[in-house]
Amino acid sequence: MNTESDKPWNYFSSDPQYSNVLKLRLENKVEMDSALAMGRYLNQYASGDLDIVDFGGGPGHYYPVISRLYQNGGITYRSVDIDAANIDAGLRHFAGDKKADFTVGSVLDPAPFLTDRNCVVSANTLPHIPTVAPLLEAIRNSEQVHSFLFRMLIGDECVQIKKHLSGTDFDAMFARGYQHNNIYSIAYLQSVLGDDWTLERLPDLFDVTRLAEHSVPMQKTDHFYSNRVSRPVGDMIFKGDVYMPWAFVSGTRRGR
Ligand SMILES: C[S@@+](CC[C@H](N)C(=O)[O-])C[C@H]1O[C@@H](n2cnc3c(N)ncnc32)[C@H](O)[C@@H]1O
Repeated sequence: MNTESDKPWNYFSSDPQYSNVLKLRLENKVEMDSALAMGRYLNQYASGDLDIVDFGGGPGHYYPVISRLYQNGGITYRSVDIDAANIDAGLRHFAGDKKADFTVGSVLDPAPFLTDRNCVVSANTLPHIPTVAPLLEAIRNSEQVHSFLFRMLIGDECVQIKKHLSGTDFDAMFARGYQHNNIYSIAYLQSVLGDDWTLERLPDLFDVTRLAEHSVPMQKTDHFYSNRVSRPVGDMIFKGDVYMPWAFVSGTRRGR
């Protein structure tokens, strides 16, 4: 069952081609720059055994990368994704792996997925949902979560962006068929999490040549994809016309 499948910001559940791109990354053992960065930063900022929940984790293509790079303890991994096709692919690929589980669900209703987790991660997903407030509140209110690591858009202010995804159909523009690319400030994240959390903004780690060459097959013929793929402009990243200030944010509960 897909949750939130009828919401106008959720183009994911009706995009089987993109789900297939993620599945192929898993099957072909592609180690994305953001997965490598996540593994390295977890190794640097987290400690002990990690029970990870990855919101927007797709079919679990970050799990092998994180497991390989994390040296401070053991890993269990849960992907929670809104798209049932991603979850089905993860269940099939990791069948028999007792340390991994996969659930259809939404980061907008995160609390049920945190009860047995101590570490929350999310990459390339939080800019695209309407709000991160429920996730931050659930982390603040959970007793056992002691660390998180997000790749998201971080600026000096909070900005809500809606990108219209079609170049030819302008019906109901900004009411449906759009993608959020929302930017948050560290001050906002801290204000929701409260004083129990120490936050650190960490640079995005990526290979600029690899990024410049990055493409998905569909973008050559379909505007729906071409304005969703990141490209470098100098030392900045753009997606179509939108500047994307990608960064990692590490959070640690004080006293840990
Ligand atoms: C851009 S992809 C990123 C996938 C992966 N984390 C990566 O970096 O390759 C965004 C993922 O978030 C999922 N997603 C979108 N909205 C979501 C939500 N509200 N809750 C959970 N997952 C969501 C999508 O289905 C998709 O798998």
